[in-house]
Amino acid sequence: MELGLKDKVAIVTGGSKGIGRATALGFIEEGAHVLICARGEETLEAVAQELSAMGKGRVVAVPADLTRAEAIQEVVAHCLEAFGRIDILVNNAGSARPGDFFQLPDEAWQEDWSLKFFGYMRMAREVLHHMLRQRNGVIINVIGTGGLRPTAGYMVGGSANAALIHFTKALADEGAKNGVRVVGINPGPILTERLERFLTTLGGEGKKEEVLQRLTPLGRVGKPEEVADLVLFLSSARAAFIHGANITIDGGANPGLMG
Ligand SMILES: NC(=O)c1ccc[n+]([C@@H]2O[C@H](COP(=O)([O-])OP(=O)(O)OC[C@H]3O[C@@H](n4cnc5c(N)ncnc54)[C@H](OP(=O)(O)O)[C@@H]3O)[C@@H](O)[C@H]2O)c1
Repeated sequence: MELGLKDKVAIVTGGSKGIGRATALGFIEEGAHVLICARGEETLEAVAQELSAMGKGRVVAVPADLTRAEAIQEVVAHCLEAFGRIDILVNNAGSARPGDFFQLPDEAWQEDWSLKFFGYMRMAREVLHHMLRQRNGVIINVIGTGGLRPTAGYMVGGSANAALIHFTKALADEGAKNGVRVVGINPGPILTERLERFLTTLGGEGKKEEVLQRLTPLGRVGKPEEVADLVLFLSSARAAFIHGANITIDGGANPGLMG
């Protein structure tokens, strides 16, 4: 399927690892130009070099901590300086922690919400100004099924995800006035560094394969590339009628009627 992403300009937050890295790679394979950002400079630069070496689209890497409002403005300014426009924003950088309700202090809630909810909201607001001027653009929020399946052990991330599911639909209403599409994606368990970190909580390193198999009815966890493929499709004109939707990609793990 021809996606028509050649020469589009995409920002992928958290583009140095996991789902973000796979998504940035996918955009480059399609001939798009990409700005990736994350905190760790060494890994970010290594991924930028890897993507540039593919000899397709241009790559810009901007080290940034997206819990800081100023960092978000800097990332967007960098993108406009380098490429002159922003066609696609993939809000993906997030790292909310699991934990016992009584053990997690206010600081943990504030820190995780400042990246996952405020980071997404601020980035979308900053980028939307430019997309509205272009009267065109797509914003994809990579959220998570934790927002659909409330559990005591993942309240911080789950509640931020639920807020983002709402935000995605509300932002779609705003974007529609000027031709900007907004879509949310809810991944279930996807094998990235983040899931590896959670494994200890889920059942211990020793039983890793067993735990991974039990996480979905398909008997396996997802691959970052599988989420990236969905992001690419939703970013493309092939998905022009998909707007304000929150789409689940979880191997059937969510048993509920929604998502
Ligand atoms: N993997 C899953 O099973 C799963 C399931 C549901 C939802 N999700 C969501 O999908 C998204 C990607 O997850 P992933 O599994 O690919 O995570 P990951 O492998 O841990 O990668 C996270 C990326 O975000 C960056 N990042 C973290 N904190 C940041 C900050 N403060 N400022 C800027 N960048 C930051 C990381 O780089 P640095 O650490 O160097 O900054 C890295 O590039 C997250 O929003 C996550 O909540 C994942």
